[in-house]
Amino acid sequence: MSTSEDSLITTEVSSERTGRSDRPDETVLAARDLDVYYGDERALASVDVEIPEHKVTAIIGPSGCGKSTFLRCINRMNDQIAVCRVDGDLSFHGKNVYDDDVDPVALRRRVGMVFQKPNPFPKSIYDNVAYGLRIQGFDGDMDARVEEALRGAALWDEVKDQLDSSGLDLSGGQQQRLCIARAIAPDPEVILMDEPTSALDPVAASKIEDLIDELAEQYTVVIVTHNMQQAARISDKTAVFLTGGKLVEFNETAKVFENPDEPRVEEYITGKFG
Ligand SMILES: Nc1ncnc2c1ncn2[C@@H]1O[C@H](COP(=O)(O)OP(=O)(O)OP(=O)(O)O)[C@@H](O)[C@H]1O
Ligand SMILES: [Mg+2]
Repeated sequence: MSTSEDSLITTEVSSERTGRSDRPDETVLAARDLDVYYGDERALASVDVEIPEHKVTAIIGPSGCGKSTFLRCINRMNDQIAVCRVDGDLSFHGKNVYDDDVDPVALRRRVGMVFQKPNPFPKSIYDNVAYGLRIQGFDGDMDARVEEALRGAALWDEVKDQLDSSGLDLSGGQQQRLCIARAIAPDPEVILMDEPTSALDPVAASKIEDLIDELAEQYTVVIVTHNMQQAARISDKTAVFLTGGKLVEFNETAKVFENPDEPRVEEYITGKFG
């Protein structure tokens, strides 16, 4: 990827990701004609999208356009909202996650999630990371798995001597990396992130961005962000939702930011609305 002078925003699209971006796209998640309603209100309208494996896909768009709704559809977190109804197809490795025989708990083991506000459990650092593995009945070397997840979340060196202290005593940025460690410990394939850096200061946010770049070597990352520069820096592909829950553009990130097909996307990205 390269930046061009007529780039819509003054942001460099990282060249470090060239290797990953050169990989051919293998679809891991696909939505077809996906509609989501809350009661009578439609939050997503006929969404079609194919999310590539082992890449970072950013989801951007104005508030209320359905970004979180889409993310929650992927691991069926919307099941917990009584008024929410999903129509259409959302497949993970070709299997519709809304089929009757899909177990949402098993799905969430393979599709982990990190939220906007760091939300460690009021438990030790160690127990936060071990939590999902214990639920799964993991009976292997727990210490090794906890260390591996904390290393994967770029937190090990900062906490290795205080694994028994509370996760809540960490800084906000460390707490978010702890939540990432908790999400990756059960070894999922996909990590969904809903504005994971918006509650953090720029230094902590930048650490998470670096981490996301590393995570994409091993996982498929789908990240919602309101920060255009962040989307441009860290993602391979960008999906733009606009009001009415419509996915209006989905393409390579450089293309979306430098030369979008849709005039409305250009207006949104350059801050003319939203
Ligand atoms: N639990 C809910 N019950 C009813 N309506 C909801 C619920 N959650 C979301 N909605 C509605 O669905 C639409 C999409 O909301 P969603 O939270 O997905 O937007 P978003 O793009 O994530 O917005 P933001 O950028 O503000 O987080 C909005 O109109 C919202 O009011
Ligand atoms: Mg949201």
